[in-house]
Amino acid sequence: MNLPPHLSVRDSHLFIGEHDTVALAEEFGTPLFVTDEERVRARFREYREALEGHYDRVRVLYAAKANGNLALLRVLASEGAGADVFSPGELELALRAGMDPDRLLFNGSSKSREDLALAAGHGVRVSLDSLDELRALDAVAGTLGKTTEVAFRVNPALEIPTHPKIATGLASSKFGIPHAEVKEAYAAVLACEHVRPVGLHCHIGSQILALEPFVEAARVMIRLAGEVADLGARLEFVDLGGGLGIPYRRGDESAPSPREYADAVMPVFVAGVEALGIHPALWVEPGRSIVADSTVLLTRVNSTKAAHRRFINVDAGFNHLIRPAMYDAYHEVVVANRADATPVGPATVAGPICESGDILASDRPLPDVGEGDLVAVLDAGAYGFSMSSQYNSRPRGAEVLVRGDDRAPMRRAETLEDLVLAQATPPWL
Ligand code: LLP
Repeated sequence: MNLPPHLSVRDSHLFIGEHDTVALAEEFGTPLFVTDEERVRARFREYREALEGHYDRVRVLYAAKANGNLALLRVLASEGAGADVFSPGELELALRAGMDPDRLLFNGSSKSREDLALAAGHGVRVSLDSLDELRALDAVAGTLGKTTEVAFRVNPALEIPTHPKIATGLASSKFGIPHAEVKEAYAAVLACEHVRPVGLHCHIGSQILALEPFVEAARVMIRLAGEVADLGARLEFVDLGGGLGIPYRRGDESAPSPREYADAVMPVFVAGVEALGIHPALWVEPGRSIVADSTVLLTRVNSTKAAHRRFINVDAGFNHLIRPAMYDAYHEVVVANRADATPVGPATVAGPICESGDILASDRPLPDVGEGDLVAVLDAGAYGFSMSSQYNSRPRGAEVLVRGDDRAPMRRAETLEDLVLAQATPPWL
């Protein structure tokens, strides 16, 4: 298994940075997400530096949906990151983390007038998903006495090699306006009083391991940028979205690095804007490829069972990491307290949720394991905690950040009390 650079095995224990995961699990309890701060910083920098090597106007907006922990957003803000925010909650978190409103893009496929007013009120640019939304924003911004800068999210109608549930730029996808209607949409914005068209936005999908789809999307966006410029709109940015995958199958999969992404996409972008005689900023919105491998999910073995298969029953399930259940996603698992033990045969790691789909890993070659052992699920930093739930009324686990010799919680574990905090008893009961 090819471990990322911040993970190592020392004296049979899995380490994250300088920290023994076994000791962290003892100290903070399980289930526990542990994130390596330096890894997040390094991935972000790699993106920025690789893109800046090709073009002088670059902005990396972290996709906050991947992992919205405030501490993590603060780390990224300190690196100069902006954020793609997809809800009022993500907007709130990004602002609280100290991100400059000028570096945020408010996205969404179904925004309410309240959502639009929030973005307009903060002076945050909005990516519009329909002409209906344009009319609503024009009215809302007018009421606030503001002019809001916008992009349209364009659906480039590309067939993307990824799981259909996370391919967002298919012709049939719910996101964005059809690329054939871009002219009409920008003509409509130009006719609005309180909305100014400044950008063009797309996002073709997620967990994409090939570079060609990104290159193709860049070509489509350049063509559309030409159409928009012809209408008289002054494009200040083109946002190519996120979507670069990571090698979840650490044995036999590889993923392009941010540098390889930049080397493939940027020549097309730069040649394109030069040919058009425009100089918009280039924005990207990576989420997964910045945070996924920074984090392990530690989960304690409650019991094992030799049934039709060998089951390892652990204390985290799809309430903590829904990706395997939702997308048949693959995450490597390591027995963290016996990380170099020899596998004795296939085993299935199952969570505590009352659903037969609550499986974190199926039929993996794993060593002998028993009650009290510790399992680490790798690459849990993106769409892990952010998609977690309290299903089966299970409180969520804690999150810990490590940096050098330091370690500190960045979210406490929920308690049974947290399950009832927002509930109310109707007066007749
Ligand atoms: N920008 C927009 C507009 C997006 O919709 C997304 C992800 C991103 C950026 C970031 O994409 P990334 O770089 O993380 O691939 N829950 C799924 C992934 C859903 C992605 C949704 N949009 C999963 O766990 O695989």
